[in-house]
Amino acid sequence: MLVQAYNLMAHAFLLFLLFSYIISTNIHACKQTERSSLLSFASTLSSPPLDWTFIDCCRWKGVTCDPDGWVTHLLLPSRGLKGGISPSLLGNLTHLTHLNLSHNSLYGSLETQFFLSLNRLEILDLSYNRLSGKLPLSLPSSNIRTVDLSSNNFFGAIPSSFFQQASKLTSFNVSNNTFTGYVPSSICLHSSPSLRLLDFSSNVFSGNLAPGLGKCFKLQVFRVSHNNLSGLLPEDIYNATKLEEIALPLNSLHGAISDKIVNLTNLAILDLYSNHFSGELPLNLGKLSKLKFVTFDFNNLEGALPPSLMNCTNLVELHLGSNNLEGDISMLDFSKLSQLTKLDLRNNNFTGTVPVSLYSCQSLKAIALSKNHLEGQIQAEILSLKSLSFLSISFNQFTNLTRAMKILMSCKSLHTLILSSAFEGEGMPFDDDMVDFDGFQNLRFLNLASSNLTGQIPVWLSKLKNIEILQLGDNQITGPIPSWLGTLPRLFYIDLSNNQISGEFPKQLCRLPRLIYEAEDQYEFELPVFGGINAERQLFRKLSYFPAVIDLYNNNMSGHIPTEIGELQLLCELDLHSNNFSGVIPDQISNLKNLEILNLFMNHFSGTIPSSLASLNFLKGFNVSYNNLEGPIPTGTQLQSFNASAFEGNPKLCGAPLLNKCRPNKDMDADSKNNKDEGNGHHQLPWFYIFAVLGFIVGFWGVCGSLVINKTWRYAYFRFIDNLQDRL
Ligand SMILES: *[C@@H]1O[C@H](CO)[C@@H](O)[C@H](O)[C@H]1NC(C)=O
Ligand SMILES: *[C@@H]1O[C@H](CO)[C@@H](O)[C@H](O)[C@H]1NC(C)=O
Ligand SMILES: *[C@@H]1O[C@H](CO)[C@@H](O)[C@H](O)[C@H]1NC(C)=O
Ligand SMILES: *[C@@H]1O[C@H](CO)[C@@H](O)[C@H](O)[C@H]1NC(C)=O
Ligand SMILES: *[C@@H]1O[C@H](CO)[C@@H](O)[C@H](O)[C@H]1NC(C)=O
Ligand SMILES: *[C@@H]1O[C@H](CO)[C@@H](O)[C@H](O)[C@H]1NC(C)=O
Ligand SMILES: *[C@@H]1O[C@H](CO)[C@@H](O)[C@H](O)[C@H]1NC(C)=O
Ligand SMILES: *[C@@H]1O[C@H](CO)[C@@H](O)[C@H](O)[C@H]1NC(C)=O
Ligand SMILES: *[C@@H]1O[C@H](CO)[C@@H](O)[C@H](O)[C@H]1NC(C)=O
Ligand SMILES: *[C@@H]1O[C@H](CO)[C@@H](O)[C@H](O)[C@H]1NC(C)=O
Ligand SMILES: *[C@@H]1O[C@H](CO)[C@@H](O)[C@H](O)[C@H]1NC(C)=O
Ligand SMILES: *[C@@H]1O[C@H](CO)[C@@H](O)[C@H](O)[C@H]1NC(C)=O
Repeated sequence: MLVQAYNLMAHAFLLFLLFSYIISTNIHACKQTERSSLLSFASTLSSPPLDWTFIDCCRWKGVTCDPDGWVTHLLLPSRGLKGGISPSLLGNLTHLTHLNLSHNSLYGSLETQFFLSLNRLEILDLSYNRLSGKLPLSLPSSNIRTVDLSSNNFFGAIPSSFFQQASKLTSFNVSNNTFTGYVPSSICLHSSPSLRLLDFSSNVFSGNLAPGLGKCFKLQVFRVSHNNLSGLLPEDIYNATKLEEIALPLNSLHGAISDKIVNLTNLAILDLYSNHFSGELPLNLGKLSKLKFVTFDFNNLEGALPPSLMNCTNLVELHLGSNNLEGDISMLDFSKLSQLTKLDLRNNNFTGTVPVSLYSCQSLKAIALSKNHLEGQIQAEILSLKSLSFLSISFNQFTNLTRAMKILMSCKSLHTLILSSAFEGEGMPFDDDMVDFDGFQNLRFLNLASSNLTGQIPVWLSKLKNIEILQLGDNQITGPIPSWLGTLPRLFYIDLSNNQISGEFPKQLCRLPRLIYEAEDQYEFELPVFGGINAERQLFRKLSYFPAVIDLYNNNMSGHIPTEIGELQLLCELDLHSNNFSGVIPDQISNLKNLEILNLFMNHFSGTIPSSLASLNFLKGFNVSYNNLEGPIPTGTQLQSFNASAFEGNPKLCGAPLLNKCRPNKDMDADSKNNKDEGNGHHQLPWFYIFAVLGFIVGFWGVCGSLVINKTWRYAYFRFIDNLQDRL
């Protein structure tokens, strides 16, 4: 009995083992063909091994099978894969539903064959690779729901048949490629009524947006940022009432924003900056109560702000800068905008005073009102804005700068304060009124330029331990440059030009740490700020994009340039023109390897031009005209690539590019070393010249602005600047 029972149990156990073996092979063991397809795929990659070692390929990392052993999922995002993808390999995985190879370095194209047999595919993510070529004629399967081909190098038009089968498509992202032709806006009409997300940004799509989007009843996100669209917004876009985001910045769209926009009650993001939109803002815009981000800057909008806008209680950012908007903003009641963090009304025609209701927007971090016709005084209520970090009110007609400064210095979070040309002809706020000063603890950027301010450089500035950029140019400032300026630990941009400053160049300025040692600075402005070298003014988003500058031109300064100047290796611009400086140009200037601009004209400098200046490879602006310089212009150097006008007005200066030839004998006696250099230089001229030009090219994109910018960003940026220059 016992033995029989034992036998039975043993058999049952064996049966169980056999059964579970069969089950497990059925569930896991992948088909031989699938395994070989996967292995061939892996073998074409020159990347870290995929660790596909199990016999059963369904257990491989990134691979999932169905119960029949067909591979359904191949998910290998961010695995460092390198190599070409080939349709003949992946095309054999005919049961694939999910393919995610995003964030790798795969190249090759999606020939029509690629999709041919992937007719069960639901999710396709090939974003962030190096795929190129044109799109195949059609998406592979009627089951496809998500397609992400963004951030590759695809080009050409999207074929009209592309979406034919894609009746279940909900998400389509081709941003950041080089697609051309029309945006397929009839996509919902003919094939894919379920679309929720469409992103065509950062391509070269052009022409009108054709009607059709009105049939995208489920569309939530529509982006065609940074393309070449023109024409009007199609009227029927206002029928896509599920829309939460419309982003069409950096195009050439025109026409008015229709009143019908109030139908889009779900809209939270409306981004139309840098287009040619005109007309008045829809009166009922405020009915869009979910609006959070409204970005209309750099258009041609006109008229007053609709009061209803102040009912958009969810507004987080309101950007209306650089339009032709007008009206008295003191009439607006901002008090309901408790979420508002950024308000940009710059460069319009607004009038009136700053509405006190604005000071009740507790979340405000940035207020920009520059270039309007605002007046009145800054009110103490501004101190209730505990997070206020950016304030720009330049180019207006405010009064009582001293009062404004005494209030603002208690603004603990303030990083950026731009007050230029806003308090015309007042006195520089000064010390007696600012005893026990401990304000502006976080101030990094102070602009008090262009206001005809009188008085001296005030001592309270010496307490600004975080100041990095100090702009006091274009005023009537008198007196000397105080030596404590050189003790400010983060200062790297000093503009005191166009004043009546007297006295000498303080030696202490040559100790400014930020002009000597590289430092990390990630500070990002809440709103972009104008800056840059001389005429090349640009909008900067980061403080570190500003070059290192000492601008003292157009003053009444005298004495020598201290030899310690050679310490300031990070300086990009030294502009001392139109002063009374004298003495020699110190040899040590040649240590300033990052120098791009050196202007010393209209002073009383004497002696020769140091030949060591030839080592300043990045120099693109140089002018020593109208001094008392003498002797030969160092030959065989980049200096000779500048026009004669950079040297004229120095009667005793000779040699190219001046017509005034040097007299060899006299020079030999005066400075034999110089002459020897010159002799060599004549033979080496072409090489020196080539190196100089190379240096210039390298330097041009280099060091100074530390603008290491990628292809697309640069393109976007320049388009932005181009647009801007058209409009300012
Ligand atoms: C894919 O299938 C084709 C025919 O169906 C076959 O010729 C080819 O060898 C297969 N490729 C791989 C890698 O298995
Ligand atoms: C692909 O994988 C990445 C990384 O896991 C993920 O972020 C992304 O959402 C996936 N793509 C899709 C379409 O699911
Ligand atoms: C589309 O893809 C890009 C990355 O290439 C991403 O930044 C963007 O957010 C995506 N668009 C949408 C609407 O998700
Ligand atoms: C655009 O694509 C390139 C190349 O894939 C990538 O390096 C870059 O980060 C992408 N840009 C954005 C904004 O996603
Ligand atoms: C942009 O579109 C205009 C016509 O609308 C066309 O003339 C121009 O060539 C396009 N630019 C690019 C870069 O495709
Ligand atoms: C928008 O929808 C309305 C009502 O559904 C319809 O009458 C109108 O023709 C549509 N407009 C467009 C431009 O398609
Ligand atoms: C849009 O709103 C108007 C009235 O403001 C209305 O007549 C029209 O039917 C609405 N369209 C849709 C599609 O809701
Ligand atoms: C703002 O909303 C309030 C209450 O919802 C309403 O009474 C008022 O008319 C609205 N104001 C404007 C200008 O639309
Ligand atoms: C401001 O308004 C004046 C006339 O009132 C006009 O001449 C000027 O062009 C406007 N400026 C802007 C930037 O709209
Ligand atoms: C400036 O404001 C102060 C109060 O802070 C006041 O005493 C002074 O008279 C004002 N000056 C002018 C010119 O309005
Ligand atoms: C500054 O004052 C001078 C004379 O005092 C005047 O000519 C000039 O227009 C003023 N500058 C500005 C920007 O008002
Ligand atoms: C310039 O400075 C000198 C002293 O260095 C002084 O005598 C002269 O008055 C100043 N000129 C002006 C216009 O401030």
